[in-house]
Amino acid sequence: MEVKHKFIKKYEEGIMPWAHKKPDFNLVQMVHSRPIGICKTFEPGCGTGTDAIWLAAQGFSVLATDASEIAIDLAREQAKKQNSNCRFEVSDFMHDKIEGGPFGFVFDRGFFHTFDKLSDRKEFARRVSNVLLSDGLWLSLIGSADDFPRKKGEGPPQHPLRNVVKVTEPYFEILSIKASRFGSEAAEPAKNWVCLMKKR
Ligand SMILES: C[S@@+](CC[C@H](N)C(=O)[O-])C[C@H]1O[C@@H](n2cnc3c(N)ncnc32)[C@H](O)[C@@H]1O
Repeated sequence: MEVKHKFIKKYEEGIMPWAHKKPDFNLVQMVHSRPIGICKTFEPGCGTGTDAIWLAAQGFSVLATDASEIAIDLAREQAKKQNSNCRFEVSDFMHDKIEGGPFGFVFDRGFFHTFDKLSDRKEFARRVSNVLLSDGLWLSLIGSADDFPRKKGEGPPQHPLRNVVKVTEPYFEILSIKASRFGSEAAEPAKNWVCLMKKR
């Protein structure tokens, strides 16, 4: 089953453990501490939209997309409540053309990491590179294999760093990688890699 169909089904069943009410602190810290200037920004696999709405509130001009109509409906509802100008669209990042680019910044939280197959992760990195301006930045939050082992399907995927570097390095200069945890309301959020990259 294609990754997107797995997620579409999860939203239909109301199962979305990745959803979070506050913006992920890893994103917040990066935006506050790095020179990610206010720019046109794209978040693929945005889910229910918390991080995209936060970015828009900081002044970024944000397009956020997801393959799930339910996720995008929930995100639009939140945007309306918060009077946000964040733009949400249903779109398949792995197949559809992304309108509105090129972007200065791409953010993904737990989307790149959903792909087990090396060829999919490579295609994902290529697609991110394609929608970015030259020197554009990609911040990706990726489940880490340095967490305690979990059964497949329980919690976020767990990638060794080589799974990230192997597919991203051809397209991106890696500016920083930090071992952290996802920002979430969970009692013990899963470990992750916070990876900031610049388009080559
Ligand atoms: C683990 S969730 C993370 C959602 C959100 N970034 C968050 O942190 O709450 C992965 C998201 O990727 C979306 N997704 C999966 N395949 C997709 C595709 N081909 N195109 C766009 N979105 C996709 C899913 O619907 C899901 O919302």
